[in-house]
Parts: sequence; structure tokens; C-alpha cells
Amino acid sequence: MATIPIEVETASRNPRNVKLERWVEEVAQMCKPDRVHWCDGSPAEYQTMLRLLVLTGTAIPLDPAKRPNSYLVRSDPADVARVEDQTFICSRTKEDAGPTNNWEDPAKMKQKLAGLFAGSMVGRTMFVVPYSMGPIGSPISKIGVEITDSAYVVVSMHIMSRVGSHVLDVLGENGEFVRGLHSVGAPLGANQPDATWRCNKEHKYICHFPETREIWSFGSGYGGNALLGKKCHALRIASVQARDEGWMAEHMLILKLISPSGQAKYMTGAFPSACGKTNLSMMIPTLPGWKVEAIGDDIAWMKFGADGRLYAINPEFGFFGVAPGTSMKSNANAMLSVTRNSIFTNCAMTMDGDVWWEGMTEETPAKLIDWLRRPWTPNSGRKAAHPNSRFTFAATQCPVIAPEWEDPKGVPIDAILFGGRRAGIVPLITEAFNWQHGTFLGATVSSETTAAITGKVGLLRRDPMAMLPFCGYHMGDYFAHWLRMGTHSSASKLPKIFYVNWFRQDKSGNYLWPGYGENSRVLKWIFERCDGKVHANETPIGRIPEVADLDTTGLDIKGAHVDELLSIDLEGWLAEVPLIKEHFAHFGSHLPEDFNFEVEALEARLLAARP
Ligand code: OXD
Ligand code: MN
Repeated sequence: MATIPIEVETASRNPRNVKLERWVEEVAQMCKPDRVHWCDGSPAEYQTMLRLLVLTGTAIPLDPAKRPNSYLVRSDPADVARVEDQTFICSRTKEDAGPTNNWEDPAKMKQKLAGLFAGSMVGRTMFVVPYSMGPIGSPISKIGVEITDSAYVVVSMHIMSRVGSHVLDVLGENGEFVRGLHSVGAPLGANQPDATWRCNKEHKYICHFPETREIWSFGSGYGGNALLGKKCHALRIASVQARDEGWMAEHMLILKLISPSGQAKYMTGAFPSACGKTNLSMMIPTLPGWKVEAIGDDIAWMKFGADGRLYAINPEFGFFGVAPGTSMKSNANAMLSVTRNSIFTNCAMTMDGDVWWEGMTEETPAKLIDWLRRPWTPNSGRKAAHPNSRFTFAATQCPVIAPEWEDPKGVPIDAILFGGRRAGIVPLITEAFNWQHGTFLGATVSSETTAAITGKVGLLRRDPMAMLPFCGYHMGDYFAHWLRMGTHSSASKLPKIFYVNWFRQDKSGNYLWPGYGENSRVLKWIFERCDGKVHANETPIGRIPEVADLDTTGLDIKGAHVDELLSIDLEGWLAEVPLIKEHFAHFGSHLPEDFNFEVEALEARLLAARP
């Protein structure tokens, strides 16, 4: 094939990594962009990209008097969310990808993708984005390079990861990196005007090649499909690296809880979507004297330190949160974070140049421009902001970001929380008996779907460790990896594992627990358990607080409700056992034998407790 001359704009790159330069050249020859731009990650580059997005109609600057240096982007209605059905783990064998992933043979998929990527950047600029997931130089961090033809992806990566030439310095001449190739799949013909949001309506493929640490993403410019550092690298590829290298890549928030006497504990938490992970990570406790500081809201990378404790970093640099439902009441710190320097995607626009979404204010504006760019009133009969509309802001803007959030050695984790949305059966808080039991609890995480997800309310979906769409290999092997990690240290140094459920309802469907900042009452009990300062009752399903030990001072809640929140529904749990067995059966011979033991032991304890 004849090589085409490609105009290359180079930032100073020193030292030069031959593997990287050769790969960039190969991709350029395949995708045939008009020019190649190596991103330096500078504020000037960020502003230039945004100006480009404004001039080409993709972004609108918001009124600087209301939200300085902030922009609204509206996508194509055909490109609004992660596409799980078009997401593939192309491991060597189907067995390696396991029952929870779509699989295709890597050679076959590469051949198909090469056909799609050929000439896919004609008429466009190809950006080379070197990024670090995690603080530069941290022993837990990893480097990736994303090649993309989307300036929106470049600005979003600037916020969500650490981008720039300094990453190449750390990479050095021989460093290894994750290769991420992304194209919106919309080349331009001669004289063809560009669209405000580019994507490929026919072909979308989000493909991972775990053995070679590669990502090929085609056809979508939205969120986790396109910002390859996030779900693709930091979870799907990193989960495989973590398995191979003996660490953990998890879909978890990281928070710091500070007691009135100034003592701090660090907690991570895995929750399926629509369970309030971002809200919990930066919550404002209602309990006097208690404080939460945020470290991350979505991903935690954890490694054992020399002292035998598990240390976590947030590999990301920003927050990419769901906007609808975010308000001063539900998440004041997120609202304060997006007052400036933020990018909004698929939110509605107010007539005076600001953004709006459902649930943001008590009063709905009388007139808006909706995310479809159409005039909107409350009588329009549709949502003004897309349910998956987002805000993107740098973590440094969060008013309660912990001062040590970028500590290269990470923070030592005291407690790991799992949780889901369950109307019944699952108590407000349960402590696992030990690491193995906690891993078992994490593997059974289940959540009732909300209307926003499936249109069918109340369907129970198992989402082990909230990793269902993000585990890059066989989930049965992932459970085994969790169990192995528990053997790396002594029980007293391992984080304690808890299972929470903020969503328990009474028979009429009213929530029994107020949630939000009141969840600090549960976090306080966890804190005290970590210090061994408070008693817990042994029950067949785990350890539960004594009613009197859950601090409800100042909370307007009925005693009967607290009793119910902390009660064990023996018959309900016995009915749950076959569902857990059915769920585990999906993992066949890869299911750790210890999990069969745990489910049998649970059943035996429940039967023994029957009156
Ligand atoms: C996310 C998700 O966007 O988990 O963080 O889907
Ligand atoms: Mn997530």
C-alpha cells in the first residue's frame, strides 16, 4: 500500500518511544487523517480545542457571568450512552471472556475493525493523547495513549485523566503503555460539511484485546465508549493486568470519613448504577462533627503495601457524573464543583445561557432549549435533559476533595462497601464475617432496576462487585482473584467488608431510610467497627448493629422503622438462596469452590435459626 504524506504537528517529545511512534505512524496510514497532532496537555491546548468545538458548532459557551469557562455539548440522539451489546472482550478464547462478556476471536475482530478504520479519519485531525491513569510516578499508576479523531474526546480526557508531554517523559524510550484507538467513524468527503456531533449510526464496536493491552473503539463519541482511559482501560484492561500482576482494579468510589476527634478512615464502595455512588463519595454528613472528603467517585486501583495494608488510588483526574437528580439537596458538593470550568453533555439550556436538568431546582423553568436543541416547556411531554446527560469537572474543583487524593502511594483502605437497590430482605447494613464471606457478598450484589435503566421497574439484576459490564475476563476467575487477594495479608490488616442497602421500603413502597447525608449514621457504625469500638450481633447472614448502636439522634425516624431496617427476614433469605445458586451456576467450573461452601453455610445457618 502506498504511504500517504501526513502533516504531523509535534509537541517536543523527548525521550522518544519507538514503539509508540511506530504505532502512531501505522494508525495514521490506516486511518488517513489530514494531519496528526500530539497533545501536550497544556491549558492553551484545552482552550484551542474548545474554541474549535465552538466554531464548528459542537459546543456552546455558557454565559460566563453564570458559569465561567463552561460549555454545553449536545450529541446525536443515536449516541447517548455506553453500548454494552456492542462491547467485546476479544481474548484468545471465548472461555477467557466468560459468560458475562460478548466475545469475538481477536484476529477476526481485528480484520473487521481494520476494514472500518481504513480511511475513517479522512478530512479530520488525528490526535495523539498520552495519559496517565493515576498520579504521575505512582507505583500503582499506568500509562496509556489514546489516538482519537474527536476534539471533544481530547478536552474530556484533559479533565478526566492526566494528559501531556510529562507522561511521555515517564514512559521513556522503552516504557509499556495501553494502546487505545478511537474513531467516531465519520470521514469527510471533499466539500462535505461536518456535523455538530460525529458518530457512525450503523457500526459501533467497543473492543478490548486483553492479552495485547489494546482497545479499538469505533463509531461512538460518547462517554465510556470514547474516553478510553475510563471504563475501557481503567476497568476492562486493568482488571486483566491486575489479575496478572496481583492487584485490584475495581468499580469503586473512594472516600475519607473523619470523626469529630479528627481521626480518619478510608473506605471504597462498589454500587451498580443509579445507587448514588457519586453522591456518597462527596456527601455532607448530617451527624454533627463528622466530615466526608472525596478521593474518587467511580474507579479504585488497589495494591498491597509493604505493611500488609491495601492501598487505593483514584486513577482518574475528574468526575463524569450523571446530571439529572443532582441538586443542592442531593449533592451540594457536585453542584458547587460545576459552577465553573465544566463541560456539560446533553443537558438542557436555559434561555439566559445556563444549563438545567430534571431535579436540579425545585421549580422547573417555563422555557428551555432541550438536549435535542428544540424549544421546550414543561408541557412538552418529554425530558429536557437526556436521562444520561453528564457533567465533567476536574477533581480539584470538588470543595471536599481530600488533600491526599493524589498521594502516589494511595490511601490505606479500612472498609470496603458493597450495595445495591433492594426494596426488601437486605438490611440497611451487614458486616461480613471475614474476607471470604465479604467476597461472597460482593459476588451476590443485586439491584432492582429503575425505570431509567430498562423501562421495567423492580427487575432483579445481579451485578457482582458492580463489575458486570466492566470485568475484562471470566468473572468466575475474577472471584477467585478476589479470594486470592485475601490471602496476601493477615485478617487484621485486610479491610473489613460491609453490605449496605439504602433503599429498603415498607409494604406501601415508602423508603424506610432517608439516605443522602443521613447515610453518615451508617458510616459512623462502620468506622467504629473498624476500631473494634462497637458491638455487632451475629446473625445467619452476617453481623448487624444493635438497634441502639445506630446513631439516630436528631433523626425523625420511627423506632419500628429502624427495627425493620436491621431485621433478618429468615423466610425471605431462604427464598433468596436458590436465586444465589442460580446466579452462581452461570460461572460453571470457574466458580470458586469456596462460594459453594458459603452458600451452603448460609442456608444451614438460616435453617438452624428458624423457630
Ligand atoms: C458510569 C457507569 O458512567 O458506571 O460511571 O456507567
Ligand atoms: Mn461507573
